[in-house]
Amino acid sequence: MTIALARKSLDLITPYKPGKPIEELKRELGLKEVIKLASNENALGPSPKALKAIQKTLRDLNRYPDSDAHLLKKKLASRLGVKESMVIAGNGSDEIILLALRAFVEGGEEVVVANPTFLIYEIASRVAGAKVIEVPLKNFRYDLPRMREAVSARTKMVFIANPDNPTGTYVTRGEVEAFLKDLPKEVIVFFDEAYFEFVQEKEYPDTRKYLSKHSVIITRSFSKAYGLAGVRIGYGISNPEIIDYLNRVREPFNVNSLAQAAALAALEDRTHLERTRRLVREGKNYLYRHFDELGLRYIPSQTNFILVNVGDGKPLYEKLLKFGVIVRDMGAWKLDAFIRVTIGKSDENKRLIRVLKKIL
Ligand SMILES: Cc1ncc(COP(=O)(O)O)c(C=O)c1O
Repeated sequence: MTIALARKSLDLITPYKPGKPIEELKRELGLKEVIKLASNENALGPSPKALKAIQKTLRDLNRYPDSDAHLLKKKLASRLGVKESMVIAGNGSDEIILLALRAFVEGGEEVVVANPTFLIYEIASRVAGAKVIEVPLKNFRYDLPRMREAVSARTKMVFIANPDNPTGTYVTRGEVEAFLKDLPKEVIVFFDEAYFEFVQEKEYPDTRKYLSKHSVIITRSFSKAYGLAGVRIGYGISNPEIIDYLNRVREPFNVNSLAQAAALAALEDRTHLERTRRLVREGKNYLYRHFDELGLRYIPSQTNFILVNVGDGKPLYEKLLKFGVIVRDMGAWKLDAFIRVTIGKSDENKRLIRVLKKIL
């Protein structure tokens, strides 16, 4: 549906459709036991330390949050070995994507994205009135040489999800360095590292190294490994000039006080982070083994989710719902043969496999 009143650039946008909420499925099908393996959340829940910090902050909810997220930025900066002026907190790392486009991309300028990849790059670029140049994946991986070729004099930003969603694949240090070589400083390279904490590969690049020579923005999230998706918090790292412009276009109180307190505490809970990583590692091996047994092909993943080829994704997705298992249908990415499965707790993974065996 289009109406004449709306901005033209919005006509090409399909609203983002998130994974189905547990309560919605319970309501629709009258189910009692539902598991959700659809949105790459942390199956262990938030860190107990974060919960305690939230509880302590509740009594100050009459106060506005710290607009500057000073304590959090200070701790992040010290962990990351950068200056505090090189960090910005966001209402989810999603918000940093929006801020970057708002600050740097004028209507009609070009943004280069992979296809398929995280859908927000395209949606937010179109909202900004940018022209979106899409470069197909190659063997389910970002094709950085072709993305480099797609950069023109009108290109303002290139989005690189590393690791990528929905494939779970990553680009190597060598590939990134070849991409950055001779890239004009007028082009901002946006490294989205929402799944950074799960990566195990040695060839995965430390993108902080590129901050001084290139126009680079790096984002990370508290929604995945830190289990805080519900309060919405993520952060960006860049040079102080770029961060300054991001601050000019952000709302003054973009990150609420519960989120700031929770993130600060979560950073102190290394045990929870390690438990999370172990759960994902072990769950991934379990699921790989059983997908192999079922003859299902999948893309090896550096994240807490797996893209699985099931032949025809949509009907299987629907059947799984009937058994109270929510996975992600890949229709919006045009990956019709696939479903995407978030790695859950051991009993959740087992239930998924039991139901798959029944259906298949
Ligand atoms: C690649 C990627 N980037 C960013 C995000 C958004 O994360 P946040 O919850 O920090 O906004 C997601 C969430 O699924 C993601 O998959």
